Amino acid sequence: MTAYADFYRQSIDQPDAFWSEQAQLIDWHTPPRQVCDYSNPPFAKWFVGGTTNLCHNAVDRHLATRASQPALVAISTETDSERSYSFAELHAEVQRMAAVLQSLGVKKGDRVLIYMPMIAEAAFAMLACVRIGALHSVVFGGFASGSLASRIEDAEPVAVVSADAGSRGGKVVPYKPLLDEAIALSKHKPAAVLMINRGLAPMHLQPGRDHDWTALREQHLHTVVPCEWVESTHPSYTLYTSGTTGKPKGVQRDTGGYTVALAASMKHIFDAKAGDVYFATSDIGWVVGHSYIVYGPLIAGMTTIMYEGLPTRPDAGVWWSIVEKYKVTHMFSAPTAVRVLKKQDASWLRKYHVQTLKALWLAGEPLDEPTAQWISDALQVPIIDNYWQTETGWPILTLANGVEQQTTRFGSPGKAMYGYHVKLIDESNGEELTAPNQKGVVAIEGPLPPGCMQTVWRDDARFVNTYWKSIPGRLIYSTFDWGIRDADGYHFILGRTDDVINVAGHRLGTREIEESIASHPNIAEVAVVGVADSLKGQVAMAFAVARDASGLDSDAARLKLEGEVMKQVDSQLGAVARPSRVYFVTVLPKTRSGKLLRRALQAVAERRDPGDLTTMEDPAALQQVKDLVG
Ligand code: PRX
Repeated sequence: MTAYADFYRQSIDQPDAFWSEQAQLIDWHTPPRQVCDYSNPPFAKWFVGGTTNLCHNAVDRHLATRASQPALVAISTETDSERSYSFAELHAEVQRMAAVLQSLGVKKGDRVLIYMPMIAEAAFAMLACVRIGALHSVVFGGFASGSLASRIEDAEPVAVVSADAGSRGGKVVPYKPLLDEAIALSKHKPAAVLMINRGLAPMHLQPGRDHDWTALREQHLHTVVPCEWVESTHPSYTLYTSGTTGKPKGVQRDTGGYTVALAASMKHIFDAKAGDVYFATSDIGWVVGHSYIVYGPLIAGMTTIMYEGLPTRPDAGVWWSIVEKYKVTHMFSAPTAVRVLKKQDASWLRKYHVQTLKALWLAGEPLDEPTAQWISDALQVPIIDNYWQTETGWPILTLANGVEQQTTRFGSPGKAMYGYHVKLIDESNGEELTAPNQKGVVAIEGPLPPGCMQTVWRDDARFVNTYWKSIPGRLIYSTFDWGIRDADGYHFILGRTDDVINVAGHRLGTREIEESIASHPNIAEVAVVGVADSLKGQVAMAFAVARDASGLDSDAARLKLEGEVMKQVDSQLGAVARPSRVYFVTVLPKTRSGKLLRRALQAVAERRDPGDLTTMEDPAALQQVKDLVG
């Protein structure tokens, strides 16, 4: 057996021995009594009896050996600023933030919602929460008031941390009005709002509720806030993600399992060591930002780079100039970003010295071969695809270069990672597909390894019912992705089995977009599908039936209503969810029993053969779609 095959087998056959060794990678205040308690499947409790703290492992424990090493470098090409914080400085800032949060009434177990642009204070706030045992719930800054309100309602935060504005492509995006609107919409009202004033947009502070970070920070410059030692199973955070139903799910993560899983991934998957420099171009609003901008690199004692800005501004060389300047060793991005760069001149890459890079990891959406090949040729470093989910917190499929150097096969994210008992399931009968090259649902036999979701926030039943299925004698977690595995164990991901779409690496629920569109007074019914796009991977496309179509007989009238619908989605969910087109039809393709034929609609929108349509009520419905998309 090869070194990795052996490593993998041990993780599956002797999980207790395997994970108890990995648990040595972190600091425990009290060592765990039991590696895994799976007595109540599918709920897994990792490192039972152990107490630890995520912030201690990310920050405090490095003070003895690397206090003056840069821990966090915050770069913004939007505000033209660059600021580096050593571990000692990060330690001080996190304690100030923790003290301020405590002064606002935040206690262990409370939730704090973070709605922030990519600035250092966002990382301080996350670390401060876990330092005092509070749970953070970061909401992506690109989401608008409706999305924010539903998350505030579900998380019921005691406090919200936000900023006056973000900035994108030089355009200031004020956050405060969206936050005020979201709080007004939400049934739950947070007691306190902490505002970081970047001086980008004017804001009105509501007396009694809103507080200014700069002023409160001054009062706590030297306040010592020790780490709260929490049970390994104490939740560290919730992060909302989209699924089949309209309401996003709060993915809840533990503390000990997550810390161990990230420490292990830094070693085995990223082959990283303390002092290395990690640059993940994601956003703290997504899971990659949690695991690989903030926690993973810091746990490993690396320098992490936080970047606010576009990959093409001031020019398409900006990321590579950062790699050169900071001697970045590990870079993590998404295929869409590479496709954006691919449209620019490859000479931008040759202008800079990028040979410090060990590899470029790409995740979040399918990595097409031409894109992988282009960036591989341009950078001359290994390109490593990795497949995972908000739910899992770290890669399910990739290559574990720290264990054994293996070659990437373009088009495949790679092999099952240690700890994940990956299976392919035949959807028709629920049985496992064992022969190579068969298409099935990518599934993981329980228990999920450390670091994966514990449950859906306050909804155990939803966790069980959404993700788990029994196959004789065993419980299996569904990823909702189709996949195949070749004879060498390399997997290929073939798209989602549910109504989730992936636009430029952003995971969106088509049902959420439909709900937003349907709330427009002149929309009777709507279907949103994901349509293949050469730049963004997929885009959302809407097909709507107007309540009153009498005024829609001209292009101008249709465009006007389309514009209104798009604006509505922008203001409720955010521009990330805006459909690329809203087409008006008189009827949607449905079965005789009234079920929407989504797959057929998507196929026609992608100019593919819709397949068997014998159950369709009205064949003219698809003809309209065909005529519209051309
Ligand atoms: O459909 C898969 C796709 O993105 C989904 C998870 O998205 P999210 O929860 O935002 O987590 C992203 C973490 C990197 C998956 O169910 N996906 C993610 N990575 C890949 C991918 N599809 C193909 N190849 C990948 N490498």
